[in-house]
Amino acid sequence: MAHEKQIIKTSDGSFTFRIEGLKETYHSRHGAMIESKFVYIDTGFHFWAENNPNKACRILELGYGTGLVTYLSYLEAERFQKEIDYLSLEAFPLTIHELHSLNYDSFFEGSSASFSFRDFSIMDWQKRYFLSHYFKFIKSKIHFEKFQSSQLFDVIYYDAFGAHAQPELWEPRWMKKCYDLLSVGGVWVSYCAKGSVRRGLEEAGFQVSRLPGPPGKREMLRAVKP
Ligand SMILES: C[S@@+](CC[C@H](N)C(=O)[O-])C[C@H]1O[C@@H](n2cnc3c(N)ncnc32)[C@H](O)[C@@H]1O
Repeated sequence: MAHEKQIIKTSDGSFTFRIEGLKETYHSRHGAMIESKFVYIDTGFHFWAENNPNKACRILELGYGTGLVTYLSYLEAERFQKEIDYLSLEAFPLTIHELHSLNYDSFFEGSSASFSFRDFSIMDWQKRYFLSHYFKFIKSKIHFEKFQSSQLFDVIYYDAFGAHAQPELWEPRWMKKCYDLLSVGGVWVSYCAKGSVRRGLEEAGFQVSRLPGPPGKREMLRAVKP
């Protein structure tokens, strides 16, 4: 996906990329930080953690992108003292130069975390990192469609580009793949609220909830594997 990217400032002051060719951004224009935290950390991870207080959480992310959702998950694992084993998939990695240009570390000034956003940006692909007692991490350069796993996950952050830009990744067969990748009680979460995606999740066997979305978005979806 060698599209030209333009850096834009979102409403909460954090930056993201816009791909004009796809008419798509990596995060919401209404706040990259706010959206990432609201959708994935609060509505996904914390929802699962509340129902599973004594278990470590295995998270699969579709779309490492800038690494913002990954980094917020790391900070939350440390803050909340919950073990997370995190695998992020990315088919079209951004360059180090692009990642540095977002200047996300300025948002985390004063954080006592041992690793910075910049540290995450330069971590190797395909290498497993034991960053702390609470956070284990791998980023993998692979298309989700080709990804296979013998282990199951507890939470899937489905953060592909929107259906107008990447319709193929929202087809029912990929919802079924997510279902198969999750453990019982596992949670699929996304900013997406499209009716066809909701129906695809239901067809796969999920119990689906339409929930209030982050700023600028009326609804989002969360699905649980019963
Ligand atoms: C909405 S952005 C993700 C934002 C990311 N979670 C973040 O915090 O920056 C979508 C990401 O999915 C990636 N992607 C697109 N198609 C993919 C595929 N088939 N498999 C894995 N990743 C893909 C894109 O390259 C992009 O980085």
